[in-house]
Amino acid sequence: MKVEMKGYSRLVMAIAFLFLGGGTANAGIQGNCVNCHTMHNSQDGASMQFDSSAAPNSALLRTSCLGCHAQGGAQALVSLGDDIVPQVMHSESIDLSAGNFAFITGMKGSGAADSKGHNIIELTGIDNTISALPGGIKQTYHEDMIVNTSNLTCAGTNGCHGYRYASSDLPEGISGAHHANGNGKLDVADAPANSYRFLTGVKGLEDSDWQYTRAGADHNEYFAVTQPIQLGCSTTHCHGSNGVEPPDGTISQFCATCHGNFHTLGGSTSDGIGPVVSSPFLRHPTDIILPSSGEYAQYTNYSLAAPIGRTGTLPENANSVVTPGSDAVICLSCHASHASDYPDMLRWDYVNDCTAGVANPNCGCFTCHTSKD
Ligand code: HEC
Ligand code: HEC
Ligand code: HEC
Ligand code: HEC
Ligand code: HEC
Repeated sequence: MKVEMKGYSRLVMAIAFLFLGGGTANAGIQGNCVNCHTMHNSQDGASMQFDSSAAPNSALLRTSCLGCHAQGGAQALVSLGDDIVPQVMHSESIDLSAGNFAFITGMKGSGAADSKGHNIIELTGIDNTISALPGGIKQTYHEDMIVNTSNLTCAGTNGCHGYRYASSDLPEGISGAHHANGNGKLDVADAPANSYRFLTGVKGLEDSDWQYTRAGADHNEYFAVTQPIQLGCSTTHCHGSNGVEPPDGTISQFCATCHGNFHTLGGSTSDGIGPVVSSPFLRHPTDIILPSSGEYAQYTNYSLAAPIGRTGTLPENANSVVTPGSDAVICLSCHASHASDYPDMLRWDYVNDCTAGVANPNCGCFTCHTSKD
């Protein structure tokens, strides 16, 4: 599990980081052009790339996505002039909200394992434990034909961030997003910049320091709906006006654009979570409301071990209250997004900490299934 810092040291670090940045974190790009761009990739006859390579990058950048975001150093937040660059691979004890690809390579955590997260080929190498995309929607559509274990990347057609089709300006489909980056509550979500974390079409409320500091009322807020859509592949499903995107803007529908069979209502008796939104289910449901009765009614204080999504409208600020009868289960209730220290990219040690009848605060299942411990 994540190493928890004492409140005091967290506060000191939060203050230090604000001074370091000299501005508000996550407020769009603020610094000098030269920090990030090069006009000719040449100064005094030498390369302007951060790694001194001769090859220029698109958008006149001095490095690639990974050169800025996966520096592999000791800090989760790295300053670049007046801007703060959130890191997806680093060795600091605190991880940002999506997790840390360093768990896959073993740079951090209990040892290298491909099963700990999404393998981004150019960063972690290919996933050797999974041969095909798990939960891809049925072969009659295009399971595994587009995104698969051998081409998964950060952004663009075979990735998660930006426009997920090839014809956008940058190959990564993210052109314009950095300078126009919105913060706080993002509920329009019709372009990368005004979508949650440049995930085109996803609605959410962005925590201003990517959850570097976190507490009951200091976290991202995720959007959810009250029932999943039907398994399928039409314009009312994953193919919207901005390419592949979640039709109603939920984070779980977003995961389901690739892992559709783990989320949707199935047409047959073996598909999706089952044909209807009620128990018994065939797969653990997401985008369904926590019942306001029974064991679920006890989950009322927001837990960072098992976050929920908000149905209806997103709150204006992060909220520490969970409301059974209104809030919903999401994929991120149990999973990280990039990588975690546990198999299947889970938020906790499901194999060792989840035993029925044995109360264990490290098991996130008990956050909702409050009568099973
Ligand atoms: C020159 C450095 C640099 C490069 C190259 C770069 N980024 Fe960023 N990125 C940043 C900075 C700085 C921020 C923080 C922006 C802010 O505070 O609003 C950021 C933020 C982000 C975010 C978080 C947005 C949010 O809402 O919090 C994502 C996602 C992201 N970048 C993806 C990418 C991808 C994908 C690429 C490659 C196509 C890329 N970045 C290339 C510097 C860079
Ligand atoms: C902290 C790093 C950073 C700084 C500082 C920065 N940029 Fe950028 N800029 C980026 C990144 C990353 C991209 C490519 C990804 C994207 O468009 O989101 C980009 C893209 C662009 C683009 C193409 C897309 C668009 O938004 O129109 C232009 C033009 C641009 N920058 C101009 C500038 C100028 C001019 C300055 C200085 C006033 C500047 N940038 C400062 C990181 C930076
Ligand atoms: C662009 C397609 C795509 C999206 C979107 C996507 N995934 Fe994946 N996912 C994959 C592929 C491909 C694999 C198999 C390769 C791997 O694990 O690296 C995978 C593997 C996984 C695994 C197994 C990891 C392992 O190695 O055992 C989990 C868990 C997972 N995804 C959860 C999620 C969640 C949660 C989301 C939403 C936050 C999500 N995925 C969004 C493509 C995607
Ligand atoms: C964010 C809350 C949440 C978390 C975390 C969670 N569950 Fe659930 N779980 C639910 C809800 C809601 C239902 C469906 C309740 C209903 O409508 O009957 C459910 C249903 C179930 C069911 C019964 C399915 C059926 O057919 O009735 C099982 C079994 C289950 N969960 C196991 C787990 C396990 C194991 C974990 C930990 C890996 C876990 N859950 C974590 C909320 C959660
Ligand atoms: C209640 C907790 C819970 C929720 C919610 C949940 N998962 Fe999982 N997921 C697990 C567990 C536990 C496993 C390990 C395998 C198993 O038990 O079936 C797993 C495994 C996976 C795998 C790897 C499968 C493989 O073959 O290795 C993928 C991919 C995945 N989940 C995606 C998703 C997506 C996408 C969502 C949302 C639509 C989601 N999960 C929601 C708990 C959950």
